[in-house]
Amino acid sequence: MVMKILVIGGAGYIGSHVVRTLLDKGYAVTVFDNLSGGCKENLFDEAGFVEADILNFPYLFKTMKDGFDGIIHLAALKAAGESMVEPEKYAINNITGTINILCAAWEFGIKRIIFSSSAAIYGEPQYQPIDEEHPTNPENFYGFTKLEIEKMLQWFDRLRGIKFSALRYFNAAGYDLKGRVRGLEKNPENLLPVVMEVACGMREKLLIFGDDYDTRDGTGLRDYIHVEDLAEAHVLALEHIYKTDESLIVNLGSENGVTVKEMVEKARKITGRKIPVEVVGRREGDTASVLASSEYAKKILGWKPRHSDIDTMIASSWEVYKDKIKE
Ligand code: UD1
Repeated sequence: MVMKILVIGGAGYIGSHVVRTLLDKGYAVTVFDNLSGGCKENLFDEAGFVEADILNFPYLFKTMKDGFDGIIHLAALKAAGESMVEPEKYAINNITGTINILCAAWEFGIKRIIFSSSAAIYGEPQYQPIDEEHPTNPENFYGFTKLEIEKMLQWFDRLRGIKFSALRYFNAAGYDLKGRVRGLEKNPENLLPVVMEVACGMREKLLIFGDDYDTRDGTGLRDYIHVEDLAEAHVLALEHIYKTDESLIVNLGSENGVTVKEMVEKARKITGRKIPVEVVGRREGDTASVLASSEYAKKILGWKPRHSDIDTMIASSWEVYKDKIKE
């Protein structure tokens, strides 16, 4: 029997890759998205589409009434800086939106949910690599919303038997290796899409936020993970819930650190473009380095990052961005 999955936020950058992977594996998919961060270009003909907001409770009800074997929930606002100046927006969209989803899921007997959590819930690293036992102390309101949602999921598991997987993403990067996802992120703030915009002339230069960190070249070091590897983990997490009927919290990172300068150097080589940079002051809330331990995901899900080398991440992004070159 074909499994029916509702992907909320399925038109976004990570969501569309998750949908692509589910379709490739033979799942029947319906995307629910308000297209605020996502875009129509990221939709696939094989998947159903409902254009609506998770704050629109009647619409969630109407959609879930059809019955689904599971939900993958990626719909959220994710700009950490903005969350510090407009916390209300983040509280309502991320937290209230998820409560709506859980209430509707309970109403229609949908008992499995995969949730996009984030390494932002850990805050300033106390030790590295960061495993799932690391204390949670978010530095920004965005991270706080993700942590609160994880706690909500634990309560709904205990009280309503809704099983969940909270996937704590580190830094997602890259694009579908077959070039089937082509939507660009709107007003990106994350490193690789910004570097790509500079490479194709959509932006004048990359601002490097500090080169006096305690890292091998002074610039921020992060754990980048290819979005296809992330997408794969969603499907494995879904299968895990089916098999074991147990909830799960796991980190998803590549365990490979890359600095800002290394990213720029590699991007120059791969794209053959100049990529001008200017070193400016540190960005508030940034930390020197963030490295994941993904041992638990490997053990419990049998997951392994396969495309998370820096060349593949940059090259697959460039395949999409190079169409936008402006001389
Ligand atoms: C950011 C968020 C984090 C969120 C994650 C995924 C902050 C402080 N953190 O993580 O909460 O979960 O995105 O959306 O916003 N950099 C530059 N110039 C730029 C952009 C980035 O130098 O124009 C540097 C940063 O200082 C950092 C590295 O590149 O050292 C990666 O930055 P970014 O892609 O924004 O990710 P995070 O800060 O790790």
